[in-house]
Amino acid sequence: MFSSRAPEAAATARPRRTLSIALRMTAWYALSAFALIFVATGLLYWVLVDSMYHEDLRDLADNLTNARLLLSASPSGQFARPLQPRPSWAPSHQPEIYLRVLDSAARTLTETPGLSAQLPPPSAAELAAIQSPQGVSREMSSRSGGPFLTLIVPIAGPRPGEPPQYMEVAMDRAHDEYLLAHYRERLYLVLGVSLVLCSAVGYLIARGGMRPIESISRTTARIRATTLHERIAAEGLPAELRGLAETFNGMLDRLEQSFRHVSQFSDDVAHELRTPINNLRGEIEVALSKARSEDDYRDILGSCLEECARISRVIATLLFLARSDTAADALRRENIDVGEELANVESFYEPAAAEAGVALRIAGAKGVRAELDRTLFQQAIGNLVSNAIAHTPKGGSVELAAAEAAGRLTVTVSDTGCGIAAEHLPRVFERFYRVDRARAGSEQNAGLGLAVVKSIVNRHGGQIEIDSAVGRGTTVKLVLSVSA
Ligand SMILES: Nc1ncnc2c1ncn2[C@@H]1O[C@H](COP(=O)(O)OP(=O)(O)OP(=O)(O)O)[C@@H](O)[C@H]1O
Ligand SMILES: [Mg+2]
Repeated sequence: MFSSRAPEAAATARPRRTLSIALRMTAWYALSAFALIFVATGLLYWVLVDSMYHEDLRDLADNLTNARLLLSASPSGQFARPLQPRPSWAPSHQPEIYLRVLDSAARTLTETPGLSAQLPPPSAAELAAIQSPQGVSREMSSRSGGPFLTLIVPIAGPRPGEPPQYMEVAMDRAHDEYLLAHYRERLYLVLGVSLVLCSAVGYLIARGGMRPIESISRTTARIRATTLHERIAAEGLPAELRGLAETFNGMLDRLEQSFRHVSQFSDDVAHELRTPINNLRGEIEVALSKARSEDDYRDILGSCLEECARISRVIATLLFLARSDTAADALRRENIDVGEELANVESFYEPAAAEAGVALRIAGAKGVRAELDRTLFQQAIGNLVSNAIAHTPKGGSVELAAAEAAGRLTVTVSDTGCGIAAEHLPRVFERFYRVDRARAGSEQNAGLGLAVVKSIVNRHGGQIEIDSAVGRGTTVKLVLSVSA
């Protein structure tokens, strides 16, 4: 049953747009490589900032220690004279260090000239909050907005019992900031360039990875029914794609074999139908060559009818096989009494067996039941019995048997006939295959009987085996599952 909406839907449905694998791989590679570089450079930048800060702090602490030494060396323990400004010979990239001494009321006792203009002194409350003898460090901005790092430590008062004084060292970090800004600029440049490089390298890697796939697809696109012998060159391909190429090649092997079978089959069909049609034509031509009596015409028409019946039997069998191949008709399984079905086949073939002087009998099939398609099962057993009778000389016997064990039904048809030579055995299930085409009466047989049996057994999911010895007889065994 076709839905009326189907063609409409097909017309409106647009193929979903997907990114090519190469593009996806490029994007993933570029993004992940860039993210790694970004994190690594960010980490390095942070380490640099941190170590510069600690270096500055250490510098301040050293300066503070020196200043304390000087202070303790001064006889009065006081800064009698103001400190000297920075000497002109000091290198310009050296950070400027400032010093300030405060009493506990936050009054400046002495300081490096110009410090108050840059940094206001701390309040008395801020000084009182300093508990640790190591002091406290602070990052501050000067009045002009410059970055400063300060360290304040408490020192003993000038005389025992007096409140402590405070020494503050401050460092102008403008040079550090300048260095970091410069470093950041370069980092941005490096990150920009690495993003471009990662994308380009990612694209090249992805293209390189996709090249074998393109070559596989070029080869497969070239393959037609006439060039089915072509194969994908698996050597030199990466391991993952070698498996794919070998799978493709395996599929091509099977396709080539099937194509060969199909073309052989069409050849056989044409050949098989040509003979009876030629016969028919010959008979009609002879009949028409001169005036004949009514009886002659009746004979000729009778013979033509026989020929037509044979042709239509072959066509019907071919149609049956084709439909079986494509599983066009569903199996009509039912629970059947196998013994009873064998008895039906036996009684149908009994007259033919009697005429051929062959004893036809059933050995032990009572009570065996299985879920099978009754018509097809009868057809399969009928074909086997007909073969057995046809190939068993007078005085011989044909025996049918069925047994069930472990959910498997085994049906055998054995005869004491002429047997089949070993070289023919593998081919007897092929369509149109007859062991002895020259044998008298063999033109009446199409060579399709065993092919039909095999196809019926396959449709039931079973197996067929044939065992034969020339001069001693043939046994065909069907193994089917008892339930569907
Ligand atoms: N029981 C048997 N004993 C000896 N030969 C057999 C036996 N069954 C089949 N064969 C051989 O196998 C060939 C194929 O058998 P199959 O039933 O497929 O074709 P057929 O009997 O020749 O023709 P059809 O069955 O289409 O009328 C036969 O031609 C015959 O030579
Ligand atoms: Mg046959």
